[in-house]
Amino acid sequence: MDLVELAPAHAHGDVKLLRGKDQLRAALEPARREGSSIGLVPTMGYLHEGHLSLLRAARAECDVVVMSLFVNPAQFGPGEDLDRYPRDEERDLSLAAEAGADVVYAPPVGDVYPEGFATYVAVEGNLTSVLDGDPARRGPEHFRGVTTVVAKLFNSVGPDVAYFGQKDAQQAAVIRRMVRDLDFPVRIEVLPIVREPDDLAMSSRNAYLEADERERATALSRALRAVEVVALERGLQAGLGAGREVLRSAGIEPEYLEARDPEDLSPVTELGHRPVLVAVAAQVGQARLIDNVLIEP
Ligand code: PAJ
Repeated sequence: MDLVELAPAHAHGDVKLLRGKDQLRAALEPARREGSSIGLVPTMGYLHEGHLSLLRAARAECDVVVMSLFVNPAQFGPGEDLDRYPRDEERDLSLAAEAGADVVYAPPVGDVYPEGFATYVAVEGNLTSVLDGDPARRGPEHFRGVTTVVAKLFNSVGPDVAYFGQKDAQQAAVIRRMVRDLDFPVRIEVLPIVREPDDLAMSSRNAYLEADERERATALSRALRAVEVVALERGLQAGLGAGREVLRSAGIEPEYLEARDPEDLSPVTELGHRPVLVAVAAQVGQARLIDNVLIEP
């Protein structure tokens, strides 16, 4: 793979940091011309092992690996954590380089959303109005922000494959639907949730947790394990009850703990022949945390 050297692109190890769309396009042009495959890993940075697992998969499967690093204002609501979202670009660049990224694309906000920006990509209906998309929670605008930026990234990078985490199960379902509905020529890979040794799902937002909250936060994954074990023995409703009990004992009032179809997110009331997604969201201290498990029949 030969990427053109472009000033003022700044090299960091073997990874190139690019800020401009035109630079990005120019850097990827040779790869595209040679028919090399391009893998894209979209991120908001503050990388952890979850992000790195996506980069490593992309490295293993694609000729050129592009990671985007952009804290996307369009997916944050007015009362959300845009301003204090954790950032550490230097560290992200070294971690991305180590995990095998060739290019880190980190555009300035003004380039992604120039003056007069007025065009959005939105997946409508059930998929973006339940769970996190419920207007009482993050709302459909959150997913509109996600699909808009991801559509833009697909246009700027032109990836053959794009990698997402099952951690954000609803986001993955929404992106799959966007790709299908709008005929984006990209294959979507969704990889398993990477967890801390005590089972807490890795998240950039875990950085907000104080020591006691970090301990309490383990109730989310413990609740999901309880749902799974009890559901397989005594049915889904008993499972959800057991999960709620785990959260209650930890003093956590969840925003939701629900069982849904993993593809269309329609409600599921009992285990059947298809996998069931059980998803949870809860505020723990300053962090809004989400986690989920797929119960296989
Ligand atoms: P971010 O939260 O930075 O996550 C980037 C990718 O890493 C997402 O696909 C997410 O599902 C995945 N990921 C996060 N934690 C993970 C974990 N513990 N295990 C496995 N994968 C994990 O999701 C976003 O950014 C944004 O919405 C984005 C898609 C970049 C659009 O702005």
